[in-house]
Amino acid sequence: SDSDPLQDFCVGDLKASPSINGFPCKSAVSASDFFYSGLAGPLDTSNPNGVTIAPGNVLTFPGLNTLGLSMNNVELAPGGVNPPHSHPRATEAGILVEGSIFVGFVTTNNTLFSKIMTAGEMFVIPRGLVHFQWNVGKDKARMITAFNSQLPGTVGLPNTLFGSKPEIPNTVLTKAFKTDDTTIANLKSKFVG
Ligand code: GLV
Ligand code: MN
Repeated sequence: SDSDPLQDFCVGDLKASPSINGFPCKSAVSASDFFYSGLAGPLDTSNPNGVTIAPGNVLTFPGLNTLGLSMNNVELAPGGVNPPHSHPRATEAGILVEGSIFVGFVTTNNTLFSKIMTAGEMFVIPRGLVHFQWNVGKDKARMITAFNSQLPGTVGLPNTLFGSKPEIPNTVLTKAFKTDDTTIANLKSKFVG
């Protein structure tokens, strides 16, 4: 959903300041600007959520600048969860390359659409909707995701709500979640940092 390009390519000059629609074009371009090996994996998934994402977006692969797409390599340890999040600037498609995952997104009418996927299957997450992945298999899971934006952006719900700087006032969160200060303080303590 990015704007259409007006030239064949515009490899991003990341040292220049980004302007309204991405980065200025860098002047000397070669074949290597159009290849990126950062999605090869394997990734270390030994972290509390058991998920690691290697992004291939304009910031890691400047050749994507102005071309309106990007991809991630996402790896999940058994039981690992990619927490609920949304991408404000892109629809997401993904293919599960190995393993077995529970994938779901929630519509603006609050309906969850979900499935346990096996390797080889593809999914789509409509632009902006909250979604998550959970490795329900015994082995590592790996998927490649793709976005129709060079920089889809990620709004991670736990971080956004409980880890913003400065913090969202407790009154807002206790009312929103129909709970008390202690619960909110406990949640914040895990995300502010
Ligand atoms: C998975 O949801 C991803 O954003 O790569
Ligand atoms: Mn996503």
